[in-house]
Amino acid sequence: MRSSWWRNAVFYQVYVRSFADSNNDGVGDLPGITSRLDYLRSLGVDGLWLTPFYPSPQKDHGYDVADYYGVNPEYGTLDDFARLVEEAHRRGIKLLIDIVPNHTSSRHPWFEAALSGGDDPHRTRYYFVPGRDDAPPNNWQSAFGGPAWTRLDGAPEWYMHLFAPEQPDLNWWNPAVPAEFRKIITYWLDRGADGFRIDVAVSLHKRRDLADRPLVPHRTTGLPTTAPGFEIIDQPEVHDVYRDWRHITGTYEPERVLVGEIFDPGRQSRYIKQDELHMAFAMMDRRWDASAWKQAIDVYRHAVSRSTSLPSWTQSNHDVIRHVTRLGGDGLGRERAKASALLLLGLPGQYFIYQGEELGLEEAFVPPERREDPLYIHTNGRHQGRDGCRVPMPWRQHEPNAGFSTAPPWLPTPAAWDRNAVDAQARSTTSVLSLYRRLLEIRRGLARRLPARMDWAAAPKDCLMYHRGPLSVACNFGHRPLELDQPGRLLIGSTPGVRRSATGLLMPPNSAAWLETRRSAGS
Ligand code: NOJ
Repeated sequence: MRSSWWRNAVFYQVYVRSFADSNNDGVGDLPGITSRLDYLRSLGVDGLWLTPFYPSPQKDHGYDVADYYGVNPEYGTLDDFARLVEEAHRRGIKLLIDIVPNHTSSRHPWFEAALSGGDDPHRTRYYFVPGRDDAPPNNWQSAFGGPAWTRLDGAPEWYMHLFAPEQPDLNWWNPAVPAEFRKIITYWLDRGADGFRIDVAVSLHKRRDLADRPLVPHRTTGLPTTAPGFEIIDQPEVHDVYRDWRHITGTYEPERVLVGEIFDPGRQSRYIKQDELHMAFAMMDRRWDASAWKQAIDVYRHAVSRSTSLPSWTQSNHDVIRHVTRLGGDGLGRERAKASALLLLGLPGQYFIYQGEELGLEEAFVPPERREDPLYIHTNGRHQGRDGCRVPMPWRQHEPNAGFSTAPPWLPTPAAWDRNAVDAQARSTTSVLSLYRRLLEIRRGLARRLPARMDWAAAPKDCLMYHRGPLSVACNFGHRPLELDQPGRLLIGSTPGVRRSATGLLMPPNSAAWLETRRSAGS
């Protein structure tokens, strides 16, 4: 039997630039992460996902990789990586790293060579394509705004970039590209990485004909919009890559894992397979409504129901508005976020915490002149960008920059974050941090008795309830308190207001509870 340490694991996403700064230069680094492993251990996570730490001009904060075999000097050295691996493993914490196979940085030696002359062979490792008169080769758009093509200095050919111009797309049809990535993943697996989070996982091969996306009138506005069902990415050959990678990860013991950056449940069904990816993200970004959450949970459960995997629940990451803010912000958003953590952490499957979620952090306001996100820059400010969820962690109250760094952090710390600091929350029994610690501890204690199956139970309007072996989980999405006559011992409530009364279980609005019943596993 292979060990499947990753099943039902709780992962913690470290946004390297903003997690912990060991040398007080205002930027997080690998030794900083190592210095905080005891914090992560006490939180109770099983594994980390580190965002890209490779040498990079940081045009998309590391998702523009100039050297896949090194560490960005701002973040440390390969020795620092080795130490981080060793210390994490010593504490029983696994380490997933981010791999960026869709594009390189424009400063990657391959792309620099490609620009050195029209007949340089490296050009075939990217998409260099003649334009149509003075226009780009097709109508594909960059995710960061504008055409997905750039032409340099009046050259006849344009190069493709589905993201920023500094992130040229690799041509996966050229066998030199898959060959290089086999080397890259083996290199990091040999250095102790326990797996990879794969950036824009389904995009590797582009449709061969590079045909224009057909435009159709938008249903309500009538404006031309891209027709659904016309794929420019997600080609059948992408599956061959992951079958190959899965084979490679399977040669290591214990098994290494592949987590695809795939949110679409339809795609998850096609990529999460015994011989392809282990996991993808079940992003719970619905409005706060019981039936919307139930539906989303079911959609993600069914997406993986034919595989041996389970969903990987998540609510936030470095690309989206923090969920406390999405759920209403301030006290209300925080109560709901605590309840949603209980709801999701009771479900079968993995859970990915985004750093600072365990502190109940909100989206921060970053003054426009301090914003760095290419999404903000390339849309000329039409999109506010993702800097607000990337603001450095507050570690210590009453210290400059909430203890992240003595130097000004790369993104400014909001003054109000002082009270969210880790040390302040660690002292309080009612903090979000204390709730997460208890929750993860209880989850670990129950782990052996929790079956992979859950069943929805009848519940009052605005309330969701499910049973999973001895665990029953209830969540009150409504504005009114509820009293449930559900039997069982109260293990944990998302707020102190959740309690047993003489007649039932009291649940304030926006709260959740875990109950232990005497059901046997699998019932
Ligand atoms: C997804 C990453 O999460 C995001 O931060 C990045 O901008 C794009 N991929 C491009 O690499």
